[in-house]
Amino acid sequence: MGNKIQAVKGMNDLLPVEQKDFKLTSAFWQAFEEVIVRWTKRFGYKQIRTPILEQTGLFVRSIGEETDVVGKEMYTFSDSNDSISLSLRPEGTASCLRAVVEHNLLYNSPQKLWYMGPMFRRERPQKGRYRQFHQVGVEALGFEGPDVDAEMIAMCADLWKELGISQYLTLELNNLGNREERAAHRSALVDYLSQYENRLDEDSKRRLHTNPLRVLDSKNPDLQEICNAAPRLTDYLGEASLAHYNELKSMLDGLGIRYVENSRLVRGLDYYNQTVFEWTTDKLGAQATVCGGGRYDGLIEELGGKHTPSIGFAMGIERLLLLVNEYGCLKSESAPDVYSMHQGEGTALKSMQYSHLLRENGFCVLQHSGNQSLKAQIKKADASGARFVLIVAQSEMESGSVTLKDMQGNFGQQTINAEQLLTTLQEWKNT
Ligand code: HAM
Repeated sequence: MGNKIQAVKGMNDLLPVEQKDFKLTSAFWQAFEEVIVRWTKRFGYKQIRTPILEQTGLFVRSIGEETDVVGKEMYTFSDSNDSISLSLRPEGTASCLRAVVEHNLLYNSPQKLWYMGPMFRRERPQKGRYRQFHQVGVEALGFEGPDVDAEMIAMCADLWKELGISQYLTLELNNLGNREERAAHRSALVDYLSQYENRLDEDSKRRLHTNPLRVLDSKNPDLQEICNAAPRLTDYLGEASLAHYNELKSMLDGLGIRYVENSRLVRGLDYYNQTVFEWTTDKLGAQATVCGGGRYDGLIEELGGKHTPSIGFAMGIERLLLLVNEYGCLKSESAPDVYSMHQGEGTALKSMQYSHLLRENGFCVLQHSGNQSLKAQIKKADASGARFVLIVAQSEMESGSVTLKDMQGNFGQQTINAEQLLTTLQEWKNT
């Protein structure tokens, strides 16, 4: 036997059963996907699917070369046939916008889009942080807000309610202003932080010149005092930005959505302006951010389209489902209605014909495969979680009857005329 080959570090298999260090099952995940399809439909958003591989330049131009995501975490390689550099997508916004610009989707009307799928970041794996993880993302393209900003946030709140986790999530809100306001703040911030350059850690020293706003994001306790007293972006906002921010807040108040203002919330990707927000929890340890987003009014133009004010957000499915699994109310149903068994010459075919009839009439039927004793088959039926068992033995087949067993015991075990199979099971199921 050869050595076993294992999955790549930080990348999970999603199985029908729970794993020791990864509790999510495929049935639970699928139940969540069904919720997402209904939820996006309820808000009138349409799905977009893009490749997981893009030209590296797309992410450099949109997310920013100096960000951790692009600078350190992308899986990048050159295609063997030509010299184009390709990267596995680390997030979905850039790909979504690339496709929208490429296919001219904004020609006639704004777009409300969503997507779901795997993303790749070479981070240090831990609970809630993986190298292949999954996002659901939502993007509203061609809207100035702040009404659509409020809709985005209300949309999240609606989903948390449906999943039963509203009380475990806090909405943090900030406004980053426009390009000029950010530039004025940035230069004040660099002047301020430069005074303390010898007290900054290595990461912050590097960021001071590349992305000084991110210094304020530092988790280093020794820097908190310096960060707390730093010039605040809010103080550099002009009239229009403040009006946008205030109107959004009053809309959230009107919708009954609570928020915490966090003037240090800057997000890890460079494309944001004005509204930014994150939903955080204290139930997942260090990986507190379950969902994040904001405005990116200049990004579509940056990617070759026309100026199109836009906003979006994405949630990490693993993080969200870890929370839902422990505290929420999502139910997953993977058990069949009926386990269909058989024993004796010619019974396999007969049993498959009955299973087919039941499936045609809306039943989920797990067909027993192979020849085993009825005792062994009943054990399998029990393990499958099926509510009913359908048994076709040789004597029954010859007399045109079948045996039904209700595993919950309400109707016991009964041998009936095969012609009554469907109506009997329908009656049992609805009782
Ligand atoms: P992001 O904050 O980088 O934003 O990622 C969104 C969410 O993805 C995070 O809040 C987190 O839940 C999840 N996530 C990120 N990295 C990992 C990881 N390594 N393992 C597990 N989960 C992770 C974006 O990606 C933006 N594209 C969101 C957006 C859409 N902004 C506007 N439109």
